[in-house]
Amino acid sequence: MKKVHIKSFGCQMNVYDGQRMADILSEQGYEETATPEGADLILLNTCHIRDRAVQKVYTELGKLRDLKVAQKANGQHTKIVVAGCVAQAEGAEIQRRQPAVDLVVGPQAYHRLPALLAEAASRRTVDTDLPIDDKFGHLPAPTPKAIRQRGISAFVTVQEGCDKFCAFCVVPYTRGAEFSRPVAQIMTEIERLAASGVQDVTLIGQNVNAYHGEGPGGAVWGLARLMQRVAEVPGIGRIRYTTSHPRDMADDLIAAHRDLPQLMPFLHLPVQAGSDRILAAMNRKHTADEYRRLIERIRAARPDIALSSDFIVGFPGESDSDFEDTLRLVDEIGFASSYSFKYSPRPGTPAADLGEQVAPEVMSERLLRLQERIEHHRQAFNHAMVGRTVEVLLERVGRHPRQLAGKTPYLQAVQIETESNQIGDKVQVVIERAGSNSLFGRKAGPDEVPRKGLAA
Ligand code: SAH
Ligand code: SF4
Ligand code: F3S
Repeated sequence: MKKVHIKSFGCQMNVYDGQRMADILSEQGYEETATPEGADLILLNTCHIRDRAVQKVYTELGKLRDLKVAQKANGQHTKIVVAGCVAQAEGAEIQRRQPAVDLVVGPQAYHRLPALLAEAASRRTVDTDLPIDDKFGHLPAPTPKAIRQRGISAFVTVQEGCDKFCAFCVVPYTRGAEFSRPVAQIMTEIERLAASGVQDVTLIGQNVNAYHGEGPGGAVWGLARLMQRVAEVPGIGRIRYTTSHPRDMADDLIAAHRDLPQLMPFLHLPVQAGSDRILAAMNRKHTADEYRRLIERIRAARPDIALSSDFIVGFPGESDSDFEDTLRLVDEIGFASSYSFKYSPRPGTPAADLGEQVAPEVMSERLLRLQERIEHHRQAFNHAMVGRTVEVLLERVGRHPRQLAGKTPYLQAVQIETESNQIGDKVQVVIERAGSNSLFGRKAGPDEVPRKGLAA
């Protein structure tokens, strides 16, 4: 069997695409391998979101070129493919910078991989068409074996692309316009996953809560309606969705957090900044107070919901007082976790041309202060779990023998010692200790199990 090594960078959409490419290549007689050494095909599934992510790709490609040369000396012909968002953004420029690359294929063109690989056998090839036909309609289904190897939690892309055009962001250019998959196509995929043991699905999209797919009889379904349907699939016990935009939190979606038991109480809802001036310059189309009120409504529907966000520091024009507004918002909301980044000017985005770029040392200092606040709230959230009983879905083997690891409904990692359980079990766990990255607990006794709800 031929061997393919796939390495994905960036977001969950790339994880999903990487698996779909593995499914396509499996039909072509390729088996996945964990290391590039010895592979016949090496595929980098790349991210363009910040400059650092792009630099990583070129560094990696330099190493792969050396490997390709070494393998050739041993009589093995290695092909290098660049897929994902850098492929889309830079196209043929990638092969100019790194001639060892055989094929460049964008995120909306990878269903054509078999034909493209055949073409790349004789000449360098580039395909960065944005949707002309529906990629999803051409993807092969994963085999039951592949599904089981990937575990009991799965990502399912339901929406792709973005029409929001935040001033800093490349995604609308690398992924193209918003597109929602039809309900029937998504349901076929989720039913197949569930039949091979998947219990926990995360519906993903760059703007997943803008989902508006074609439902039965041509009706348009929103995300809430789609999740109600997903919840009816036997075996699917946990549902999540990511990433959402504050402007698309529809009333029925908020209500689903109250009414749909399988919908987990965790929501990633990026706000990016706490200053109205910066939010406007970012083209986010909402104010900090609108975000606060939205969080109040979500918490009214689901009081125990855990929230997370993304933040950018040092957006052009961000003053000390703008930054203080961000810190204030972080303290007010008390996010369970968050990602934070220094602003990175991206070619072709409106913000890259703004004056008043913030000095690198100011950005670094702000990032440190922000991360300190985020970490404080994350630790507080995790420590507040100690002594509580929560339902943990066991997903994989733990760090030590006899340990299994799983997640709480709030997306926290938990390790427990158990000999009577296996992966896929849902166990009531008393949390005993909060470490820096995981919680540790023991199985609850019969009198410690809460009668109603997920957590005591
Ligand atoms: N679609 C999602 C996520 C997009 S990318 C959303 O709308 O929230 C993930 C995160 O990367 C963003 O939320 C933002 O915080 C960060 N990001 C995007 N562009 C960036 C840039 N140019 N510089 C720094 N961070 C950026
Ligand atoms: Fe980028 Fe904004 Fe679209 Fe998110 S909503 S993908 S940050 S343009
Ligand atoms: Fe990166 Fe593309 Fe995702 S730019 S964050 S891989 S959509």
